[in-house]
This record gives sequence, C-alpha cells and structure tokens, in this order.
Amino acid sequence: MTSPATRAAELRELISRHSRAYFVHDDPVIPDADYDALVSELRELERRHPEVGASERARVGAPASAVFSPVRHAEAMLSLDNVFDVDELRSWSERVERGLDTASTLTFVVEPKIDGLALSITYRGGQLVQAATRGDGRVGEDVTDNVRTIANVPHRLSMTTGAVEIRGEVFLAKADFERLNEAQRAAGARVFANPRNAAAGSLRQKDPAVSASRPLSFLAYQLVDLDHTLSLTTHHQTLAQLASWGFLVAPEAHVVEGVSDMLARSSWFERHRHDFSYEIDGAVIKVDDLSRRASLGSTSRAPRWAIARKFPPEERTTRLLRIEVSIGRTGRATPYAVLEPVLVAGSRVAMATLHNADQVREKDVRPGDLVIVRKAGDVIPEVVGAVVVDGEARAPAWRFPLTCPECGGALRRREDESDTYCINPACPAQQMQKIVHFASRGALDIEGLGEQRVAQLLNEGLLRDVADLFTLDREVVARLEGFGELSATALVGAIDAAKSAPLSRILIGLGIRHVGPVAARELARRFGTYDAMARAPLEELESLEGIGPIIAQAVYEYARDDESRQRMAQMSQAGVAMSEPGLDEAPDATLAGRAVVITGAIEGYSREAAVAAVVSRGGSSPGSVSAKTFCVVVGDAPGASKVDKARRAGVPMIPGPAFEELLATGTWSATLE
Ligand code: IVH
Repeated sequence: MTSPATRAAELRELISRHSRAYFVHDDPVIPDADYDALVSELRELERRHPEVGASERARVGAPASAVFSPVRHAEAMLSLDNVFDVDELRSWSERVERGLDTASTLTFVVEPKIDGLALSITYRGGQLVQAATRGDGRVGEDVTDNVRTIANVPHRLSMTTGAVEIRGEVFLAKADFERLNEAQRAAGARVFANPRNAAAGSLRQKDPAVSASRPLSFLAYQLVDLDHTLSLTTHHQTLAQLASWGFLVAPEAHVVEGVSDMLARSSWFERHRHDFSYEIDGAVIKVDDLSRRASLGSTSRAPRWAIARKFPPEERTTRLLRIEVSIGRTGRATPYAVLEPVLVAGSRVAMATLHNADQVREKDVRPGDLVIVRKAGDVIPEVVGAVVVDGEARAPAWRFPLTCPECGGALRRREDESDTYCINPACPAQQMQKIVHFASRGALDIEGLGEQRVAQLLNEGLLRDVADLFTLDREVVARLEGFGELSATALVGAIDAAKSAPLSRILIGLGIRHVGPVAARELARRFGTYDAMARAPLEELESLEGIGPIIAQAVYEYARDDESRQRMAQMSQAGVAMSEPGLDEAPDATLAGRAVVITGAIEGYSREAAVAAVVSRGGSSPGSVSAKTFCVVVGDAPGASKVDKARRAGVPMIPGPAFEELLATGTWSATLE
C-alpha cells in the first residue's frame, strides 16, 4: 500500500507535469477528464489526510513563457469552478441564494462553455491596444500582433473614451479545425489532436503571419469596464453591448428565471453539445445581475457567481492491447484497436477503429501503449493517439500485415489510396460481408439473414456467392443446427419473395463500386432490365443524369466481368426478375421537387431505403434542414440539430409513422408540435 503522503507527492508531481504540458507546451498528454480525476483524487486525499498538507487548488493557468512579453492583467483573469451533474449544480445555486440572503427569484444566463483558450483584449479610446493570454491569471502573455490577425476581432469600437477589456475565448470552429489538419497533413506537418490544441498552437506563434494563416475565431463573454464609463447592470446587457460592437457572442446564451429553468437549460446544452459549430465541453451558468455578482465576490481561483457544468468526458485513456485488421465486403482491410474496456461518454468501449495504415502511422500507436479514446455523439469510437511518457519502453511500431487474417491471401494498398485491400476474391470474410450486404435492409431486405446465419451457410458449403441464395434447398436448411421447419420455410420464403425485387435494389445489393441508391435508381429507371444495362456502351452510361465517368466505368466493367456474368446468369435462371417495374408508366411524381429531410430511425426502413423511397417519387432527401425543406420526418432518436433547425425555420415536422402517408399522398394529416 502506498502511504497517503507518497500518493499525494505522486499526484502533485503528475498534476504539475500535465499542467505544464497543457499550458506551456499547448500539448496535453492526457484528456481533461483524466486530469480532473487526478485533481479530485488529490483534493479528496488532502481532505481525508490533513497531515499531507494542502496544495494550490488545481490549475488556474501556467506561468508566462519567455517567448512573449508578460502582461499584468488589470483585473485577475479567474477560472471557473466545475460541477458534474444537476445535483451539484443545484447545490451551487443554493449557495448563491444563501450568499445573497434573498428569497427573490434569481436570473441566470446559461452559455456554452467553449473549449478554447481565454483571451483578454484591451481597447483604449475605442482602439485595440493590447491582447493577452490568461497565463497564471495575474500575468499573461502579450499576443497583440497575433490577435490583430483574427478576422472577427474588431480593431475599433464605436466609442471614443474609456478603456475596456473584452474577455472571451479563442477557438477554432470544427470545420476550420478539419481544414487546418488537412492542410497540415498535406504539408507533412504535425496534425493537432483537437481544436483546442490547434487554437492554442495557432495563437502562440512567434510569427504573426503563421497565426494569420490559421482560421481562428474569438467569442466574447465578459467586459471589464476599466474606467467605469459604461452603465451596464446585467450580464445580458453586457452581451448585447459586445454584440453591438461587432463581437461574436454565443447566440445560444439564454436568460432564465429561477433555478429549475436554469437546470433545464443547462441540460439542453448537454443534449445539444454536438450541434454547435465549435466544440463545447460544458455549460457556464452566470448570475445575471452585476451588483449581485459584486456582493457574491470571488475566491482567489474562481468567481462565486458563475459555475461550469462539465459534460461527461468523451475522451478517456486506456491500454491498447493489440491491433487487428477486419475485412469488409470490398476486401478493404481496416485496422482496429482492441482495448482494455473503458467507459466513454456513457458506453463501454473495447474496440475502436484506426481507419487505415496512414492513420496508425500518423498516430504512432503501438500495442501496450496507453491511448486516448474518443467517442463524440453517435460517431464510432476512435483512437486519438498515444500517451507517451518520455523514456518509457514501447513495443516496436506496428506494421500493417502483408497477408489477410481471414484467408491468408495478399493484402495490397491501392495506389493513390490510403486503404489496403485483400485481393483474393474468394476470401471468406469478403464473401460473408457481400452476402450480408445483399440481404440487408437497404438492398434486398431478406429477413432472417444476418451475419451469423450467412457465416453458418458459408461454413456448411451451401453458399459461395449471393446467387446461391436463390437455389437454397428448404429441406437442407431445415436440418442445419439452429434451424427447424419453420425458420427454414421463413428464410427460403423471404428469399423467394426477393426474386421479384426491383432492379434498383439488386444493383444496390450487388455492391458495384461507387453505385449507391441514387445511381442504382437512375440506372434501373433508364434501362429497365439488368440485361439492357449490361449491354449499354460506356458513352451511354456516361450520358445518364447523375452518373459520372467513374460510376459509368465501374458499371461497365462489372457487367463485363466473367464472375459477374456467371452470377447474373445463375440468378436469372433461378427466376430473379432483375427488372424495374412501372417503367412504362409515367414516373411517380408524388414528391416531385420536394426536399424531405429524414432524421432518426423510421420503422420498416433503413436510411437508404427511406431516401430511395423519397427519390423514387421525384423528391430529394438532403442531409440538412433549410428554409426550402418541404418537411422533416422525425423518427426514433432524431438528431437534435435538425429538429431545432426545423423548429426555427418553421418547417413542418411529421412523425415517423406518417412517412408511408407522405409517400402515398405527398402530404400528411398530423404534424409534431
Ligand atoms: S466566464 C470569471 N464563460 O472556461 C469568469 N468562461 O474552465 C471567467 N470558458 O477560464 C470565465 N466558455 O477560458 C466563461 N461562456 C464562458 C466560457 C468560459 C469557455 C473558459 C474560460 C475559462 C474556463 C474555465
């Protein structure tokens, strides 16, 4: 057992090391959540074992560096205390009420907590004269020249007297961060782990020209009236004043009356955390009335009138046990990390994708490393990078296998692509995934034919290719383990029914490269039968609407490939129709020219099938809501941003079950809200 004193020393050393990495080098090695856990552990230890002494409470900031000149802040730049759930937030509001000794309803402003870095900009007589980082809260770094290059920072304010300090957050919007990393990658430079690091690295550049080339933004949330020339009495007035000077202020900042609305609004931010154009890691709740703020005052670290409600971490560290490779239906070999299971954003993560060989090399993660795992929204978990402690022994860099783990055949990387493929068309893993895709909802929708059953049928030697499905013998299937008369009849019946599936669905199911639902629909509509399509010369394929040269070439080659010719002949012999019905009739125009946005799951439809259903009626199904959207179909677990946007734009929202009605009639009889 480690003694409390030893552990306290250890924790202090770790905290100070990570604090330096975070503030001085802009290069944190562990996620914030893990840092917070170290700080909590130390606080708890100090509370339970007073003999270990008390240390400085957590980080406020780092000492200023030697590169930039020091700037003493006219008024300390404080940090915020954190709470992690509604109960803690309620306790904070009770402390505020007690502190004010008032029974009257409190007004709060609830704002997003932007994950950037704090900046203070001083204006005298309306002119920008200085900009400084927070540093240790008292003394920061002079970054004036760099800040002048930030596009949305006003250089002049429409007032002539008095000095003000505008405080806020420098950040990189998510899209700008992605673009910056793409450019870094293209230039062979280091990619940034997250927008916050990228913003910090970009602001603290010795050369302002480099800062200028980085798409930084500034969001203002505080005003220090140094000469007392303004007569603001509330925070929301302050925000309005900042906005009128041309600063970006959070449009989502919300004034709320009373504790229960405040709690509800902070939870709203948590639900919508991924809908912002920039990263947020919490909500900040502030007492609105400035005189009440003054009477609450501050501790040496943080104000008593504000609090940050931090959201559950979406990044955690865990051990990378090994790296494996999975094979998809196109033969693509995707490396993935097998991890010591860890809870990330509320779900257990034991595996995470590593995308491709380049990503593994770029991230330089090796078996045995401690790695950072991220899960944002409903995105699949991914490994962000390794936590490398200087001097610690590591396994050699991981090498992409040369042979397929499933079939032992060669793995090849295609020229000009970052993906590696198993080039053996007979690879059982590819075969299995191809058949699973063929039977999936978006394609032929064959009920009861999932991964397990396909694997079983392959192992029993009853299947080799999708075409074999149509000649499966019911009696043979019934004798297989796990099957019986009933399930065999159901499966073979479902396959039989699929024989009359429209050509468009078959084209989707075949998984021809680059052919998605829209192209499949167009090809089927234009040619009517597979044979007609297969005979079409390349120029004819290229001339179709929405079919570019890449799709045309892929279709052309597919139709002439020996194996596919054999497959199609076998399917045709088995009675698969392979034609598009209703070709002679006028095209269905129920939704002609209508943009129908679909969000959430709609019963009975895969995403592809729902989109295809709209497209087949002349409509379109874009991924985002605009004022031109005809309606939004709101299924199960809808995307909050789409619903919100629809609400704001006044676009009708119809419930998932009304989708069929929409398809049949082009309108609806019930809307949500
Ligand atoms: S108010 C004295 N408002 O979070 C009050 N801070 O963890 C100071 N931050 O130092 C800050 N969004 O860098 C405030 N809407 C917001 C914020 C915000 C992000 C940052 C800021 C602060 C840190 C504390």
